[in-house]
Amino acid sequence: MNERFDAAVFAARRQRFLAALPAGSLALLAAAPVAMRSNDVEYRYRQDNDFHYLTGFPEPEALCLLDTAGAERFTLFVLPRDPERETWTGRRYGAEGARERFAADTAHTVDRFEEVFAKLLDGRERLYFTLGRDDRLNQRVLEQVRRSQATRARSGAPALALLSPVDVLHEMRLRKAPEEIDRMRRAAAISAVAHREALLAARPGAAEHEVEAAIDFAFRRLGGSGPAYPSIVASGANATILHYTENSRRMCDGDLVLIDAGAEYDHYCADVTRTYPVGAKFGAEQRGVYDVVLEAQKHAIEAVAPGASFDDVHDAALRVLVEGLRSLGVLAASLDEAIEKGAYRPYYMHRTSHWLGMDVHDVGKYRLEDKPRRLEPGMVLTVEPGLYFAESVDGAAARFRGTGVRIEDDVLVTAEGREVLTAEIAKEADLLERIAAERR
Ligand code: GLY
Ligand code: MN
Ligand code: MN
Repeated sequence: MNERFDAAVFAARRQRFLAALPAGSLALLAAAPVAMRSNDVEYRYRQDNDFHYLTGFPEPEALCLLDTAGAERFTLFVLPRDPERETWTGRRYGAEGARERFAADTAHTVDRFEEVFAKLLDGRERLYFTLGRDDRLNQRVLEQVRRSQATRARSGAPALALLSPVDVLHEMRLRKAPEEIDRMRRAAAISAVAHREALLAARPGAAEHEVEAAIDFAFRRLGGSGPAYPSIVASGANATILHYTENSRRMCDGDLVLIDAGAEYDHYCADVTRTYPVGAKFGAEQRGVYDVVLEAQKHAIEAVAPGASFDDVHDAALRVLVEGLRSLGVLAASLDEAIEKGAYRPYYMHRTSHWLGMDVHDVGKYRLEDKPRRLEPGMVLTVEPGLYFAESVDGAAARFRGTGVRIEDDVLVTAEGREVLTAEIAKEADLLERIAAERR
């Protein structure tokens, strides 16, 4: 579902993007190709994030040409209106709609791309274009680049460089504007309802996919476009498989269920994990592990602030996790030695955070000049420590075999520190047990 389309927001983004490119540059962005699910059945279409960010145009097979010079700075190439095709595949805006609704200075049908692009390319020094997964498009663009380069000696024009726009574009996407944060808040609010309904649905005897269905129902009912990534509903030892998505097991009293599910709302993602008791209460061992992960997560969230680095957030979580593994009797080494030697890695094998935005693992550099980059207001990251005791662990860890706990929230960096966008989703163990008691 789309919020009201605000052409001025997209125009301002294009202006900022173009202002960051050297004069005389062209930038070309492409709509996402349609993906086939099987035979002649397509996946539901989802627009490419960079293309959406700069145009808001929702259709496939479109191209966007941006020019740092000239009056016609924003050109869209789109599928033609075609009443017969549209009867089968849905409405199209056509070139006229591209101009009127999406504020293109010029719009053409996409069959005219080569002709218009070739003219614009000649004499330019730089073309910004990301070679993507669409090989047919890559070939079409490279053919024009090759042709234009070949004429340069004769015309005396400077050489043509092919560059990637992502350094500029993805730095813009990394710092979220107010209208983006609004959408992320909405994705978080929808996810909050879904998680509450998931906790209520996770009863002994229910299957993991029933819980997934409750989540999907909430996501769509509340206006989300669906899950931002395949939901993980992992009960019992399935929770120790990080990317478990089969969601097929029937849950038992005494299990924990790890639910990693976030809504997508108007192109923006939430990414939330909670770990719930399937029965009325956490078992003693489960509660021990849960309390360690929750404390680690709270410490890591506290470490999020302008000027802090990703490593600070990770280290804050790691110290509490390792201290916890020592007090649970799993690790015997000192805190520093266990961290130094990586003795925790069988139980905590992933990092604590990633960027979040239009992509669930959002764009933006994690390191700058070979140093972990500093957090700035407007950036959004996840904080998601966990502990996982695979079915194969033995020795001192055997007591926890088959237990997996992860707790994940989405955190906006603010001028004052941080705001947890997913704060309303219950995670205190006692509160989870009280909500579990409401199951019917
Ligand atoms: N749900 C994907 C992740 O947590 O990174
Ligand atoms: Mn995540
Ligand atoms: Mn997640």
